[in-house]
Amino acid sequence: MELKGKTILITGGASGIGLEAVKQFLENGSKVIITGRNQAKLDAAKKLHPSIITINSDVANAEDAESLFKEIQTLGGIDILYNNAGVLSKPQNLGITNEAHFETAEYEMSINYLGVIRLNNLFMDMLKSRKESAIINTASILSYVPLNLAPTYSASKVAVRFYTDSLRNHLQILKSHVKVFELSPPLVSTAMADGVNAKTITPEELVKGLIAGLKKDNYKIRIGDTMAIYFLSRFLPKIAWNLINRNSNAKQL
Ligand SMILES: NC(=O)c1ccc[n+]([C@@H]2O[C@H](COP(=O)([O-])OP(=O)(O)OC[C@H]3O[C@@H](n4cnc5c(N)ncnc54)[C@H](OP(=O)(O)O)[C@@H]3O)[C@@H](O)[C@H]2O)c1
Repeated sequence: MELKGKTILITGGASGIGLEAVKQFLENGSKVIITGRNQAKLDAAKKLHPSIITINSDVANAEDAESLFKEIQTLGGIDILYNNAGVLSKPQNLGITNEAHFETAEYEMSINYLGVIRLNNLFMDMLKSRKESAIINTASILSYVPLNLAPTYSASKVAVRFYTDSLRNHLQILKSHVKVFELSPPLVSTAMADGVNAKTITPEELVKGLIAGLKKDNYKIRIGDTMAIYFLSRFLPKIAWNLINRNSNAKQL
Protein backbone atom coordinates (compact mmCIF):
# COMPACT_ATOMS: atom_id res chain seq x y z
CA MET A 1 0.00 0.00 0.00
CA GLU A 2 0.99 3.62 -0.47
CA LEU A 3 2.06 5.44 2.71
CA LYS A 4 2.68 8.89 1.27
CA GLY A 5 -0.13 11.33 2.08
CA LYS A 6 -1.83 8.88 4.46
CA THR A 7 -2.76 9.80 8.03
CA ILE A 8 -1.83 7.15 10.60
CA LEU A 9 -2.87 6.79 14.23
CA ILE A 10 -0.20 4.97 16.28
CA THR A 11 -1.39 3.94 19.74
CA GLY A 12 1.40 3.96 22.33
CA GLY A 13 3.50 6.04 19.95
CA ALA A 14 5.53 8.00 22.52
CA SER A 15 8.18 5.34 23.19
CA GLY A 16 9.77 2.11 21.97
CA ILE A 17 8.62 0.65 18.65
CA GLY A 18 5.81 3.23 18.38
CA LEU A 19 8.21 6.19 18.58
CA GLU A 20 10.49 4.66 15.94
CA ALA A 21 7.39 4.11 13.78
CA VAL A 22 6.58 7.84 14.11
CA LYS A 23 10.00 8.66 12.64
CA GLN A 24 9.80 6.22 9.74
CA PHE A 25 6.17 6.95 8.78
CA LEU A 26 7.04 10.69 8.71
CA GLU A 27 10.05 9.90 6.48
CA ASN A 28 7.64 8.02 4.18
CA GLY A 29 5.39 11.07 3.81
CA SER A 30 2.60 10.09 6.24
CA LYS A 31 0.91 12.39 8.73
CA VAL A 32 1.11 10.99 12.24
CA ILE A 33 -1.16 11.08 15.30
CA ILE A 34 -0.07 9.26 18.46
CA THR A 35 -1.65 8.30 21.77
CA GLY A 36 -0.36 7.24 25.18
CA ARG A 37 -1.25 7.57 28.86
CA ASN A 38 1.74 9.62 30.00
CA GLN A 39 1.61 13.34 29.10
CA ALA A 40 5.33 13.92 29.71
CA LYS A 41 6.22 11.16 27.23
CA LEU A 42 3.75 12.56 24.67
CA ASP A 43 5.26 16.07 25.09
CA ALA A 44 8.77 14.69 24.60
CA ALA A 45 7.69 12.91 21.40
CA LYS A 46 6.11 16.16 20.12
CA LYS A 47 9.37 18.02 20.85
CA LEU A 48 11.26 15.43 18.81
CA HIS A 49 8.75 15.46 15.92
CA PRO A 50 6.89 18.82 15.98
CA SER A 51 4.55 17.96 13.08
CA ILE A 52 2.79 15.12 14.92
CA ILE A 53 -0.45 15.39 16.88
CA THR A 54 -0.43 13.85 20.37
CA ILE A 55 -3.56 12.79 22.27
CA ASN A 56 -3.60 11.52 25.84
CA SER A 57 -5.76 8.40 25.64
CA ASP A 58 -5.86 4.95 27.24
CA VAL A 59 -6.91 2.11 24.90
CA ALA A 60 -8.31 0.21 27.88
CA ASN A 61 -10.75 3.03 28.71
CA ALA A 62 -13.99 3.16 26.68
CA GLU A 63 -14.63 6.88 27.32
CA ASP A 64 -11.07 7.80 26.30
CA ALA A 65 -11.47 5.80 23.11
CA GLU A 66 -14.74 7.51 22.21
CA SER A 67 -13.31 11.00 22.76
CA LEU A 68 -10.24 9.98 20.76
CA PHE A 69 -12.50 8.95 17.88
CA LYS A 70 -14.41 12.25 18.00
CA GLU A 71 -11.23 14.31 18.13
CA ILE A 72 -9.80 12.44 15.15
CA GLN A 73 -13.04 12.95 13.22
CA THR A 74 -12.68 16.72 13.68
CA LEU A 75 -9.06 16.47 12.50
CA GLY A 76 -10.20 14.91 9.20
CA GLY A 77 -9.91 11.20 10.05
CA ILE A 78 -7.24 8.55 9.52
CA ASP A 79 -6.33 6.06 6.79
CA ILE A 80 -4.24 3.69 8.93
CA LEU A 81 -4.92 2.49 12.46
CA TYR A 82 -1.74 1.00 13.96
CA ASN A 83 -2.60 -0.82 17.20
CA ASN A 84 0.82 -0.74 18.83
CA ALA A 85 0.04 -0.03 22.52
CA GLY A 86 0.86 -3.04 24.66
CA VAL A 87 2.00 -4.11 28.11
CA LEU A 88 3.97 -7.04 29.52
CA SER A 89 3.87 -7.51 33.28
CA LYS A 90 7.30 -7.86 34.85
CA PRO A 91 8.45 -11.30 36.12
CA GLN A 92 7.81 -10.44 39.79
CA ASN A 93 4.11 -10.07 38.90
CA LEU A 94 4.00 -13.23 36.82
CA GLY A 95 3.39 -16.86 37.65
CA ILE A 96 0.26 -18.73 36.75
CA THR A 97 -0.77 -20.55 39.93
CA ASN A 98 -1.15 -17.59 42.27
CA GLU A 99 -4.22 -15.39 42.82
CA ALA A 100 -2.44 -12.20 41.77
CA HIS A 101 -2.17 -13.70 38.33
CA PHE A 102 -5.82 -12.93 37.59
CA GLU A 103 -5.13 -9.18 37.89
CA THR A 104 -2.12 -9.46 35.59
CA ALA A 105 -4.23 -11.38 33.10
CA GLU A 106 -7.04 -8.83 33.20
CA TYR A 107 -4.64 -5.90 32.77
CA GLU A 108 -2.75 -7.44 29.84
CA MET A 109 -5.91 -8.61 28.07
CA SER A 110 -7.68 -5.25 28.51
CA ILE A 111 -4.86 -3.43 26.69
CA ASN A 112 -3.24 -5.97 24.37
CA TYR A 113 -6.43 -7.64 23.12
CA LEU A 114 -9.64 -5.80 24.06
CA GLY A 115 -8.03 -2.39 23.40
CA VAL A 116 -7.37 -3.49 19.81
CA ILE A 117 -10.95 -4.64 19.23
CA ARG A 118 -12.35 -1.47 20.85
CA LEU A 119 -10.45 0.86 18.50
CA ASN A 120 -10.99 -1.26 15.39
CA ASN A 121 -14.77 -1.24 16.02
CA LEU A 122 -14.83 2.53 16.57
CA PHE A 123 -12.76 3.37 13.50
CA MET A 124 -14.08 0.70 11.09
CA ASP A 125 -16.63 2.86 9.23
CA MET A 126 -14.11 5.69 8.92
CA LEU A 127 -11.53 3.28 7.46
CA LYS A 128 -14.10 1.75 5.11
CA SER A 129 -14.89 5.23 3.77
CA ARG A 130 -11.26 5.95 2.77
CA LYS A 131 -9.86 5.17 -0.67
CA GLU A 132 -7.04 2.95 0.62
CA SER A 133 -6.90 2.10 4.31
CA ALA A 134 -5.44 -0.39 6.75
CA ILE A 135 -5.39 -1.79 10.25
CA ILE A 136 -2.11 -3.03 11.74
CA ASN A 137 -2.51 -5.29 14.78
CA THR A 138 0.55 -6.08 16.89
CA ALA A 139 0.94 -9.77 17.79
CA SER A 140 4.34 -11.23 18.75
CA ILE A 141 6.78 -14.12 18.31
CA LEU A 142 5.08 -15.32 21.53
CA SER A 143 1.82 -15.75 19.62
CA TYR A 144 3.49 -18.76 17.94
CA VAL A 145 5.09 -20.29 21.05
CA PRO A 146 4.20 -19.11 24.58
CA LEU A 147 6.83 -17.92 27.02
CA ASN A 148 6.39 -19.81 30.27
CA LEU A 149 7.19 -16.66 32.27
CA ALA A 150 4.55 -14.59 30.44
CA PRO A 151 1.50 -16.85 30.14
CA THR A 152 -1.27 -14.30 29.64
CA TYR A 153 0.88 -11.86 27.65
CA SER A 154 1.48 -14.76 25.23
CA ALA A 155 -2.23 -15.64 25.33
CA SER A 156 -3.19 -12.01 24.61
CA LYS A 157 -0.96 -12.03 21.55
CA VAL A 158 -2.27 -15.31 20.12
CA ALA A 159 -5.75 -13.87 20.65
CA VAL A 160 -4.74 -10.79 18.63
CA ARG A 161 -3.33 -12.99 15.89
CA PHE A 162 -6.40 -15.21 15.54
CA TYR A 163 -8.71 -12.19 15.73
CA THR A 164 -6.61 -10.50 13.02
CA ASP A 165 -6.98 -13.51 10.70
CA SER A 166 -10.75 -13.56 11.27
CA LEU A 167 -11.11 -9.82 10.77
CA ARG A 168 -9.18 -9.95 7.47
CA ASN A 169 -11.28 -12.86 6.29
CA HIS A 170 -14.59 -11.23 7.27
CA LEU A 171 -13.68 -7.99 5.53
CA GLN A 172 -12.67 -9.88 2.38
CA ILE A 173 -16.01 -11.76 2.38
CA LEU A 174 -17.79 -8.40 2.76
CA LYS A 175 -15.71 -7.14 -0.19
CA SER A 176 -14.30 -4.35 1.94
CA HIS A 177 -10.99 -2.89 0.78
CA VAL A 178 -9.68 -2.28 4.35
CA LYS A 179 -6.34 -4.13 4.55
CA VAL A 180 -5.65 -6.01 7.77
CA PHE A 181 -2.01 -6.62 8.72
CA GLU A 182 -0.50 -8.77 11.47
CA LEU A 183 2.84 -7.51 12.81
CA SER A 184 4.70 -10.20 14.77
CA PRO A 185 7.97 -8.84 16.15
CA PRO A 186 10.72 -10.97 17.69
CA LEU A 187 12.39 -9.62 20.86
CA VAL A 188 13.04 -5.89 20.27
CA SER A 189 15.36 -3.70 22.37
CA THR A 190 12.78 -1.44 24.07
CA ALA A 191 11.77 -0.86 27.70
CA MET A 192 9.54 -3.92 27.38
CA ALA A 193 12.57 -6.15 26.81
CA ASP A 194 14.64 -4.59 29.64
CA GLY A 195 16.41 -7.23 31.71
CA VAL A 196 15.71 -10.03 29.23
CA ASN A 197 18.91 -11.88 28.48
CA ALA A 198 18.39 -12.89 24.83
CA LYS A 199 19.11 -11.76 21.28
CA THR A 200 17.20 -8.61 20.26
CA ILE A 201 16.75 -6.53 17.13
CA THR A 202 16.48 -2.73 17.21
CA PRO A 203 13.17 -0.85 16.84
CA GLU A 204 14.68 0.66 13.65
CA GLU A 205 15.14 -2.80 12.07
CA LEU A 206 11.66 -3.87 13.16
CA VAL A 207 9.90 -0.81 11.73
CA LYS A 208 11.90 -1.05 8.47
CA GLY A 209 10.49 -4.58 8.14
CA LEU A 210 6.99 -3.35 8.95
CA ILE A 211 7.12 -0.63 6.32
CA ALA A 212 8.55 -2.98 3.68
CA GLY A 213 5.72 -5.43 4.47
CA LEU A 214 3.04 -2.73 4.20
CA LYS A 215 4.39 -1.53 0.86
CA LYS A 216 4.25 -5.12 -0.50
CA ASP A 217 0.79 -5.80 0.98
CA ASN A 218 2.28 -8.71 2.90
CA TYR A 219 -0.52 -9.24 5.41
CA LYS A 220 1.47 -11.42 7.83
CA ILE A 221 4.59 -9.48 8.73
CA ARG A 222 6.82 -11.86 10.70
CA ILE A 223 10.16 -10.24 11.35
CA GLY A 224 13.54 -11.90 12.11
CA ASP A 225 13.38 -14.86 14.47
CA THR A 226 9.57 -14.84 14.36
CA MET A 227 9.74 -16.44 10.90
CA ALA A 228 12.05 -19.22 12.14
CA ILE A 229 9.90 -19.85 15.21
CA TYR A 230 6.77 -19.87 13.03
CA PHE A 231 8.16 -22.71 10.87
CA LEU A 232 9.69 -24.60 13.80
CA SER A 233 6.42 -24.40 15.75
CA ARG A 234 4.66 -26.15 12.86
CA PHE A 235 7.20 -28.89 12.13
CA LEU A 236 9.39 -29.22 15.27
CA PRO A 237 7.27 -27.76 18.08
CA LYS A 238 9.37 -29.11 20.96
CA ILE A 239 12.51 -27.45 19.59
CA ALA A 240 10.59 -24.18 19.11
CA TRP A 241 9.31 -24.38 22.71
CA ASN A 242 12.82 -25.02 24.06
CA LEU A 243 14.29 -22.11 22.09
CA ILE A 244 11.69 -19.65 23.42
CA ASN A 245 11.89 -20.94 27.00
CA ARG A 246 15.61 -21.75 27.31
CA ASN A 247 16.22 -18.82 29.70
CA SER A 248 13.14 -19.46 31.86
CA ASN A 249 14.02 -20.24 35.42
CA ALA A 250 11.63 -22.52 37.29
CA LYS A 251 12.26 -20.54 40.51
CA GLN A 252 10.68 -17.48 38.89
CA LEU A 253 7.35 -19.22 38.32
N1 LIG B 1 9.69 -5.17 22.64
C1 LIG B 1 9.46 -6.43 22.27
O1 LIG B 1 10.33 -7.31 22.41
C2 LIG B 1 8.15 -6.81 21.60
C3 LIG B 1 8.07 -8.08 20.99
C4 LIG B 1 6.86 -8.45 20.40
C5 LIG B 1 5.79 -7.58 20.41
N2 LIG B 1 5.90 -6.36 21.02
C6 LIG B 1 4.72 -5.50 21.02
O2 LIG B 1 5.04 -4.29 20.36
C7 LIG B 1 4.24 -3.23 20.91
C8 LIG B 1 5.14 -2.08 21.34
O3 LIG B 1 5.99 -2.55 22.36
P1 LIG B 1 7.34 -1.80 22.83
O4 LIG B 1 8.38 -2.82 22.90
O5 LIG B 1 7.56 -0.58 22.03
O6 LIG B 1 6.92 -1.46 24.33
P2 LIG B 1 7.13 -0.12 25.18
O7 LIG B 1 8.45 0.47 24.88
O8 LIG B 1 6.81 -0.51 26.58
O9 LIG B 1 6.01 0.85 24.60
C9 LIG B 1 4.65 0.56 24.75
C10 LIG B 1 3.89 1.84 24.52
O10 LIG B 1 2.50 1.57 24.69
C11 LIG B 1 1.93 2.60 25.50
N3 LIG B 1 0.78 2.05 26.21
C12 LIG B 1 0.75 1.04 27.10
N4 LIG B 1 -0.49 0.84 27.54
C13 LIG B 1 -1.27 1.76 26.93
C14 LIG B 1 -2.65 2.04 26.97
N5 LIG B 1 -3.47 1.37 27.79
N6 LIG B 1 -3.13 3.03 26.19
C15 LIG B 1 -2.31 3.73 25.38
N7 LIG B 1 -0.99 3.51 25.28
C16 LIG B 1 -0.47 2.53 26.05
C17 LIG B 1 3.06 3.02 26.44
O11 LIG B 1 2.90 4.37 26.87
P3 LIG B 1 2.23 4.79 28.26
O12 LIG B 1 2.67 3.79 29.29
O13 LIG B 1 2.74 6.18 28.48
O14 LIG B 1 0.76 4.75 28.02
C18 LIG B 1 4.26 2.94 25.52
O15 LIG B 1 4.46 4.14 24.82
C19 LIG B 1 3.46 -3.85 22.06
O16 LIG B 1 2.16 -4.22 21.61
C20 LIG B 1 4.26 -5.09 22.39
O17 LIG B 1 3.46 -6.08 23.02
C21 LIG B 1 7.06 -5.96 21.61
